[in-house]
Amino acid sequence: MSLTTIISGVKLIPASHMSLDELTAIYNQTRVDYIVPMPMTKARLEEYIHTYDVNLTHSLVATDQNGALLGVAMLGIREKRAWITRLGVVPTSRRHGAGEALMTGLLENSTRLEIPLVMLEVIKNNLSAHQLFLKLGFRENNELLILRRPPTGNSLMPVAMEWKRLDRIESLDLVRQEDGAQPWTNQYESFQNVEDVSGLRLTSSDRSSGWLVYQRRKFTLTRFACKAECGAPADVTYSLLLHLHHMHSNLDAQIENISKNDPCLPGFYKMGYIESFRRIEMWKR
Ligand SMILES: CC(C)(COP(=O)(O)OP(=O)(O)OC[C@H]1O[C@@H](n2cnc3c(N)ncnc32)[C@H](O)[C@@H]1OP(=O)(O)O)[C@@H](O)C(=O)NCCC(=O)NCCS
Repeated sequence: MSLTTIISGVKLIPASHMSLDELTAIYNQTRVDYIVPMPMTKARLEEYIHTYDVNLTHSLVATDQNGALLGVAMLGIREKRAWITRLGVVPTSRRHGAGEALMTGLLENSTRLEIPLVMLEVIKNNLSAHQLFLKLGFRENNELLILRRPPTGNSLMPVAMEWKRLDRIESLDLVRQEDGAQPWTNQYESFQNVEDVSGLRLTSSDRSSGWLVYQRRKFTLTRFACKAECGAPADVTYSLLLHLHHMHSNLDAQIENISKNDPCLPGFYKMGYIESFRRIEMWKR
């Protein structure tokens, strides 16, 4: 069980000692001036904790010696890997060591749990956080893109290809087979933890083939995994997306964390996806 510790004068309390309402409030206070506004509600935090296997016992809240709240940082835990997320210090308390203390506390928790790999992402140009992670020994592993596509109505005509809808079990199977070094948000466990996962498989007469797995939310298609098995990846992806957006012509689409080197990426651009921002993925072994 994690206990309260003190690092560089900062008191670190297991986040499990706080209510979800308190954690939501702390998190929002740390992000009032964030580069990309991401306000949380209690329900969204609860969903986030579930989807990303955040372990509140090993996550931390920082206070000063008088109990005034300074910040928060959370730790997702999966087999042989951990993920640091939701790190923030309230603006008036920054540059006094709270961020580094929180990070050090999470790294100590990971070491105690004998986890060999700790992952995180930082929005590109968030220099203070990037510097902090470099200082603590994290190294850049990948650059990830966040893409958006607004609904365009029923104007797309899918090309003639043989296609098949994939149910949740078939879709999860494909994602599991691919699971290697995906960003945390797109790992098999993240798909497994959410509702409404399904997919599409396409084969064309020229033998090109591929699949697309995604989560369908009320107004949005999100959490994509895509693979071109045969043929030009950009063309296979584009054909898959034509079918997808023909089927769901009234839904927004949001792609979180596709690698800038993903061979499917040009297919997304061709389909009208637009880059919102980038994240740097960093690892510490
Ligand atoms: C990033 C953040 C958590 C840092 O917290 P902090 O308490 O101010 O950081 P610390 O005082 O512990 O600083 C530790 C190290 O971080 C780096 N750092 C922090 N602020 C920095 C700044 N403004 N410029 C450059 N480096 C900075 C430095 O390497 C610093 O070490 P140093 O003091 O030896 O130079 C804080 O700025 C924050 O909450 N930002 C908004 C939310 C956010 O960006 N979260 C991270 C999402 S990935």
